[in-house]
Amino acid sequence: MKKLYVNPMNKLSHINPELQGHFSEHLGRCIYEGLFVGEDSDIPNKNGMRTDVVEALKEMKIPVLRWPGGCFADEYHWEDGIGPKETRKRMINTHWGGVVEDNSFGTHEFMELCDQLGCKTYVNGNVGSGTVQEMSSWVEYMTFEGVSPMADLRKKNGREDAWTVDFFGVGNENWGCGGNMTPEYYANLYRRYQTYVRNYNPEKKIFKVCCGANADDYEWTDVVMKNCFRSPEEFHGFMDGISLHYYTVPNNWVNKGSATDFTDKEWYMTLKKTLKMEELISHHTAIMDKYDKQHKVGLIVDEWGTWFDVEPGTNPGFLYQQNTVRDALVAGINLNIFNKHSDRVRMANIAQLVNVLQSVILTDGENMVLTPTYHVFNMYKYHQDAELLESFIENETVGLEDEYKIPALSESVSLGKDGLVHITITNSSIDESYDIEGVIADTDIKSVNGEIVTGEIHAHNTFDAPETVKKEDFAGCSIKDNKLSFTIPAASVLHLAVEI
Ligand code: AHR
Repeated sequence: MKKLYVNPMNKLSHINPELQGHFSEHLGRCIYEGLFVGEDSDIPNKNGMRTDVVEALKEMKIPVLRWPGGCFADEYHWEDGIGPKETRKRMINTHWGGVVEDNSFGTHEFMELCDQLGCKTYVNGNVGSGTVQEMSSWVEYMTFEGVSPMADLRKKNGREDAWTVDFFGVGNENWGCGGNMTPEYYANLYRRYQTYVRNYNPEKKIFKVCCGANADDYEWTDVVMKNCFRSPEEFHGFMDGISLHYYTVPNNWVNKGSATDFTDKEWYMTLKKTLKMEELISHHTAIMDKYDKQHKVGLIVDEWGTWFDVEPGTNPGFLYQQNTVRDALVAGINLNIFNKHSDRVRMANIAQLVNVLQSVILTDGENMVLTPTYHVFNMYKYHQDAELLESFIENETVGLEDEYKIPALSESVSLGKDGLVHITITNSSIDESYDIEGVIADTDIKSVNGEIVTGEIHAHNTFDAPETVKKEDFAGCSIKDNKLSFTIPAASVLHLAVEI
């Protein structure tokens, strides 16, 4: 019997809804086909956006969407994607698959999509191959209400009111595809570019995201923080957030491994790699603390998730992969980690929304399937805007060889806006279930409801069998002597909603 302790008296931090954010890039079939089919499509749509996908994402409570990249962002020139569609530039997407990009999805379409989704907007600007003026005028185009060349152009293109840009990224992966810069060089560019990301509307201040590190490149964080940190509360603060990118790649970048056909060893390797997120966040936070003790600046994990070999027979440049119970575990573990670090992590965006890497949705023509990852996000949505509670779970080590040993369980607990205590637990063991006794200190437990995502470790949803893995009711939790009593099955992600 393992013990779970929750202390509802100790509220540790606020869980921003944006910890469950998403990312969409002009990559493969993410934007085109996955989200946007155009008004003339036979696939049901509203102003070109797939109705089925939009409805599913609303149900999951998507809080924020990042766009247009990714590596694409530092090659994207926003003026190519505005104005009459027939005059928009057709070009080659050199980074992803060498396909024609007709720019039919641009700024107006992204804003329309976010409006339909009811989510916040995260726009990523171009530092790698764009100018300061280009970035500055994009911000003016999107957010300036008054009379100006860019606001007038927006109005001419059919949009009278300014939009809200909630988050703005000043470059993407500038240590790599965004210009192969050194941290010193980028830090100076960041200071310069961000100056012209103007806040035209003081009521809707743009949250500026500085490009942060690749995984454990701690030097990058140190140099950039040292040179660019100026608290957002100071006059013309330089940054509100700094990013971190970390992908879960089971083997190595050359042979990543199959998304669906993997060994037990690869299961544990994958989950061990994903648990590294804890160490990365802790170390980057410690470096940020040197400059920003008060945690004014957020760590923005704006790319994370599994990265496997592409599905056989698909364009290698499209990064299309399936999604199994293993991905459900990766999602649950990472979302628990983000919750536990919500005093520093202010946003996280899984890559990518539809048809790319660890997607929540896959589409094929008019068909759509929800992946195991979708169902985990749909269970965790109750943590959005909740207060993180102090919690602890007794654990044990599972795995195969010494190298691939990991803790079996992970957990996070919050007091939701609905007044319920939300407990999410993952069990990474392939074959062990665990009996758990849950104590909520000094509190009467009135009732409990549960839901679970579980299955054979390779199980996944296909267009022929779309509901092999789904969120199911979990009636296995009872209340005994004012304690929760339940058994978490092997390979599962569990959510308990407790009335107190
Ligand atoms: O998500 C795919 C790619 O991974 C992104 O374009 C890039 O930022 C990262 O390297």
